[in-house]
Amino acid sequence: MTGIIAPSILSADFKCLEKQLKEIEHAGARRIHIDVMDGVFVPNLSIGFPVIKAIRSCTDMEFDVHLMIENPERFIESAALAGADFITVHQETCRHILRIISQIKETGCKAGVALNPSTSLETLKYVIQYTDQILLMTVNPGFGGQQFITGMMKKISDCKKLFRDMGYSPLLELNGGITTENALECIQNGADILVAGSSVFQGNIKDNIKQFQQIFI
Ligand code: DX5
Repeated sequence: MTGIIAPSILSADFKCLEKQLKEIEHAGARRIHIDVMDGVFVPNLSIGFPVIKAIRSCTDMEFDVHLMIENPERFIESAALAGADFITVHQETCRHILRIISQIKETGCKAGVALNPSTSLETLKYVIQYTDQILLMTVNPGFGGQQFITGMMKKISDCKKLFRDMGYSPLLELNGGITTENALECIQNGADILVAGSSVFQGNIKDNIKQFQQIFI
């Protein structure tokens, strides 16, 4: 089974972020997930573009920037200038999502669309073909350390089927409650990238990443 682990820096120790980034990179991570929150779309605040820009020079890992914010079109350029490789916006926050996807691509970044757990896959039907990745939230967004919503397993396989039916193959990324216990089933159901916060950063980072990698072999 092939899959990629993308550590979510929301769960990192911010007082030694550079050290933690180097640690996950040396352990084999190739992408990090960066949540930008606005306290409106999600009930929490996290980090913003100055921090993303500051850590860009610390690592070669791919930056997967997840905009959990209302009216994300205001911040696409800032995300790209800060060093994003992928910029993902939420379907629920975009009135004209195809315009925002074009806006992302014009910056040279890859474009992702995220869905909250309760948002229907139907909303992706005419969007998939323009995206580089689809992100399915497997918890209600806003906080690390929540439990994977088990009903999302079916959504993952339904999403993969929708990709096949539509004839497109963007990356399928999952975010929230990912552990070494559920990772294999997620990949078997069709996920390509697993975002993991607490299960990477709690305890020994190197061992945690190794454990995920063994599942993917
Ligand atoms: C949740 C965030 C995640 C979070 C995941 O709203 O989007 O990126 O860091 O943390 P875990 O893996 O602990 O659920």
